[in-house]
Amino acid sequence: PEPPDVVAPEAEDIPELREEAKGCRRCPLWRDATQTVFGEGPENADVIFVGEQPGDQEDLAGKPFVGPAGKVFDSILDDAAIDRRKVYVTNAVKHFKFEPRGKRRIHSKPNAGEIQACRWWLDKELDLVKPNLVVALGATAAQSLLGKAVPITKMRGDVIEREDGLRVFVTIHPSFILRIRDHEDKAAERERFLQDMRKVRKLM
Ligand code: URA
Repeated sequence: PEPPDVVAPEAEDIPELREEAKGCRRCPLWRDATQTVFGEGPENADVIFVGEQPGDQEDLAGKPFVGPAGKVFDSILDDAAIDRRKVYVTNAVKHFKFEPRGKRRIHSKPNAGEIQACRWWLDKELDLVKPNLVVALGATAAQSLLGKAVPITKMRGDVIEREDGLRVFVTIHPSFILRIRDHEDKAAERERFLQDMRKVRKLM
């Protein structure tokens, strides 16, 4: 028989899983990224928010949603009376994918293979946290959680129940608000996202 230490033990909690994910080589994105950015939050959280992938600042800090999109996210959660410290926040893809442009690193979209490879970790986070609701922030998260591409603008605000019973709330990614230049449009889009977060709070 195989000696027991040959088979990696199943992670029994989020800190163990985070530790395991540090050495992830399931797709090539680990090569250029600084570190794995794993999910964060209480293991008994009622809700999991899933973003796309860490950005430049998240890659350096090792924490999800701490950069510009994270600031927008935090302020809207606050307005919706959702306490970020009580929710679990993670990403569909856990390494930063970018193109170097001079000294800057420009975000680049994860592809279907990278999303699929990283689903392994997201599934385990879902298994351990067992949330009542998962919020897909944007197309990448929705694709990872639902196993197919879904039209975000059409599905936004909808709750989709998966075959395993998990409820997935679909909405936009907060970076979408960040990119709007026109002040009125930006304010309107922020308000729509705030309404989505108020719905989430009722569904939690
Ligand atoms: N955008 C994401 O999708 N996730 C982060 O962690 C930061 C920005």
